[in-house]
Amino acid sequence: MCGIFGYTGNREAKEILLHGLRRLEYRGYDSAGICVIGENGDFKRLRVRGNLDILENHLANQVMPGKIGIAHTRWATHGAPSEQNAHPHSDCHENLFVVHNGIIENFSQLRGELLERGHEFSSETDTEIIAHLIEEKYEGDLSVAVREAIRQLEGSFAIAVVHRGEPETLVAARRESPLVIGVGTDEWFVASAVPAFLSMTRKVIFLEDNEIVTVCGKSLRITDLDGVEIERKPQEITWDLDAAEKSGYEDFMLKEIFEQPRAFMDTLADKFSREGEISIEGFFSNKDYVMSLRRIVIVACGTSYHAGLISRYLFEQWAKVPVEVEIASEFRYRGAVLSEQDLIIAISQSGETADTLASVREAKAAKVPVIALVNVVGSQMTREADSVIYTHAGPEIGVAATKTFTSQMAALAVLALHFGRIRDALSDGKYGVIAEALRGIPVLMKDVLADIEPIAECAQEYSHCENFLFLGRGISYPVALEGALKLKEISYIHAEGYPAGEMKHGPIALLDRRVPVVAVVTRDSLYEKMVSNIEEVKARGAPVIAIASTGDPDIEKVCDRVLRVPETIELLSPPLTVIPLQLLAYHIAKIRGCNVDQPRNLAKTVTVE
Ligand code: F6R
Repeated sequence: MCGIFGYTGNREAKEILLHGLRRLEYRGYDSAGICVIGENGDFKRLRVRGNLDILENHLANQVMPGKIGIAHTRWATHGAPSEQNAHPHSDCHENLFVVHNGIIENFSQLRGELLERGHEFSSETDTEIIAHLIEEKYEGDLSVAVREAIRQLEGSFAIAVVHRGEPETLVAARRESPLVIGVGTDEWFVASAVPAFLSMTRKVIFLEDNEIVTVCGKSLRITDLDGVEIERKPQEITWDLDAAEKSGYEDFMLKEIFEQPRAFMDTLADKFSREGEISIEGFFSNKDYVMSLRRIVIVACGTSYHAGLISRYLFEQWAKVPVEVEIASEFRYRGAVLSEQDLIIAISQSGETADTLASVREAKAAKVPVIALVNVVGSQMTREADSVIYTHAGPEIGVAATKTFTSQMAALAVLALHFGRIRDALSDGKYGVIAEALRGIPVLMKDVLADIEPIAECAQEYSHCENFLFLGRGISYPVALEGALKLKEISYIHAEGYPAGEMKHGPIALLDRRVPVVAVVTRDSLYEKMVSNIEEVKARGAPVIAIASTGDPDIEKVCDRVLRVPETIELLSPPLTVIPLQLLAYHIAKIRGCNVDQPRNLAKTVTVE
């Protein structure tokens, strides 16, 4: 996720662009840049590694005359945070400039083709190829060139483009990444989100997928990919700034829960080739290495630890590699016996968690290779690990991890499949079925998010309870742990996650009508066993809330409330079953008046022991 912003009008652009970027900073803050074009086609561009303060400091004494420009605040995906990789990017001759939010999936292929045609690149980004594609198509009309260029792109993008030869024209386009136009008086704004220009205009036009907008002077023109004009009237925004930053959602956590299909898809996007084969690079893709693997040890904390627990089933069943999953704060002091045929996978959203980082150092000291699975590009862990795999969830502002958790599952599923392929543990047929199901998960996540009323009603009914038990078996056991963690951290209710089969060995003593039990009971290989556990719970008078498959009418008979999720293959159910649990925790916390984005005593990144 990045923030893009563009302006054309009758005022000096520089300050307006900086103001807009400030309002988009939550979308990314590892580098920033701005480009302004003067009336005679002169341009000034400045890009920095780091946040907006650094950009502003550099700009403080610089004059940037011009009434049109574009700006960007970056959350790195392709290419580390650096000045060279910061936007705006340009073509070979610095005639045109582009800012981009999204991921271009066919970037490697397009880059290769452009190189063959003599283009030279100065960054590692996918964005730069867009500038070069527009350059190739430009014959005096920027709007047409952008349209021709984006036809070649696969993946997601929102772009804003300016050209020195048309120093009043701003062109923008989108597919699957957000883009909104602000309509002022003889001035126009384009941005990733409304807050960027809300203090300057409340009149907006939302651009739809595969639409291109060209603004210049008093004119606005929207077309589709075939150049057919589209009529669209501006709407009036009534939200305040705070609501606008959250795209109209009440809290960042809720917004991030709803971003999960997109985050999951983006995380998969750069890990599969167009032909559907896995394309991830690193020492772990070497056949001899993968064949000699004796064991995977996963280290992580909190929610990332739960993602690790889920992935154990995938690595063991698909790749036939034994897996241990360790809480990093324990692992680092245990004097664990490691060998060079082990592989450590450190999972961390932030890439800065002290205990996980210390575990990476322990492993390195024992000469064990380390893969870091991280969301924040350029974070400490990415510098210390031997290889890095990224989730592409974008910045997570809510303290409780949501979209980064499901994105971790996406990345771990790809890695498990990758190992399964290399170790010949998966037939072509089985690989095909799993890969297809994996790529289908975002659509199913959207289905879960389309029907949240029953979850809110359920929260209403049980929000007064002071204790909850979460149960699951097999792949749903770590989901139960995550459901309990979400509830306790944002609503301050005591909640425990347990493997359902263990209930008889202690926790059953806690049960009575005041202790709701949340049971994750999808139609899988352990379904009957799980139903028996639910019957045991019911016999003790505890209410049962089931997270169950859509095609399971019988579950209603043994549960008080049923929250439905669509069916998929067993090992891929967690990104679906966890969503009702996130939303249940969210609604209960809201009913109890808790601050869900900043729960008490918690920090987003735990850089101390
Ligand atoms: C829970 C949560 C934490 C983190 C944990 C690890 O919602 O956010 O439990 O998962 O602090 O953080 P990372 O993944 O940054 O290492």
